[in-house]
Amino acid sequence: MKVVAGPSSQDLARRVAEQLGVGLVESSWKHFPDGEFYFRFHEDITGEELIVVQSLYPPQNEHIFELLTIVHTARDLEASKIIVFTPYLAYSRQDERYLPGEAITSKLLAEILCKIGIDAIYTVDIHNFKVLGYYTVPAYNLIASPLIARYFVENRRLTKPFLLAPDDEEAAIKRVEEASKALGGVPYDALEKRRDRYTGRIETKEKELDVKGMDVVIIDDIISTGGTAANAAKISKKMGARKVYVGVTHALLRGEALKMMEEAGVDEVASTDSVPAVTTKISVAPLLREALKGKP
Ligand code: R5P
Repeated sequence: MKVVAGPSSQDLARRVAEQLGVGLVESSWKHFPDGEFYFRFHEDITGEELIVVQSLYPPQNEHIFELLTIVHTARDLEASKIIVFTPYLAYSRQDERYLPGEAITSKLLAEILCKIGIDAIYTVDIHNFKVLGYYTVPAYNLIASPLIARYFVENRRLTKPFLLAPDDEEAAIKRVEEASKALGGVPYDALEKRRDRYTGRIETKEKELDVKGMDVVIIDDIISTGGTAANAAKISKKMGARKVYVGVTHALLRGEALKMMEEAGVDEVASTDSVPAVTTKISVAPLLREALKGKP
C-alpha cells in the first residue's frame, strides 16, 4: 500500500503516510499556462494498492478535476485498489433538490467517482449522511469532533466545558455527542438554525443554555462565512459563558469569517488539516489510520 499526495493535500498526505507507516508514490503535477492540469506517476503503480489523499475545498472544481485525473490514471495503469481520502467532500450541502429543478451536485460527484473506478471513499464530518448513499462503493464518514474537543481540553485548560452544536441536524448532534463521550460525558446542547434558501441568510433561534461561568466549545463541520458560529457565540455569551471557542473540521473561512467570529466574542478558532488554514491545529490523519485497521 502506498499514498498518493494530491495537489490540495500534500502535507496531509505526508501525515497519512507516516501514520500508516507506508511510502508516498513519486509523482509530479503542474498547471499549464492556460490552467489545464498535468499529472504524472514517476514509478510503476501496476498492482499497487493506493490511497489518494485530496481534500476538495475551494477551488472545489479544480480540486475535483485533479482528483479525477489521478484516479483515472491510476485505474488506467492498473493499480489493484484505489481508496480515496477526501476529508472535505465538496458539494455535500447540495444533498437533495431543495427547490424544484435544482442540481444534486453531491450525487453527480459520487456517480463520476464510482464510474471511473474508485474502490472506497473516506471522508470526514460529511455535512449530510445521505450523500454517502449516492456511492455504489463503500463510503465512510469519520468523525473529527472527539479530536477537536480534546485539543481544547488539553491546550486551553477548560474550566467546566460545555459543547454546543450550532444547529440541530442529525449529523451536528452526532458530532457533539461523540465529542462529549470522548471527554467522559461533558454536557452539550444544540441550537436551532434556519437558512433562507433564496438569500442564504442565517437565523439562529435564541435558547436558554445553562452555561453561566462555563467554557463553551462550539463544534461545527464547516465554517464558511462565519455567520453560524458567530450567532452561536453571541447566544453563549448572552447566557453567561466565560469563554467561547470554536472547533471546526473544515475551515473554509470565506471573506471576513474570522473577524465576524472575533466580534461575536469567540476566543479561539481551531480547525483540522482537512483544509489548510491559519486556524489549523489538529490533524485528521490518525482518523484514517484507525478506520483502516482491520479492513481487507
Ligand atoms: C451548515 O448547516 C453547516 O453545518 C455549517 O454550520 C455552515 O455551513 C456554516 O456556514 P457559515 O459559516 O457560512 O455560517
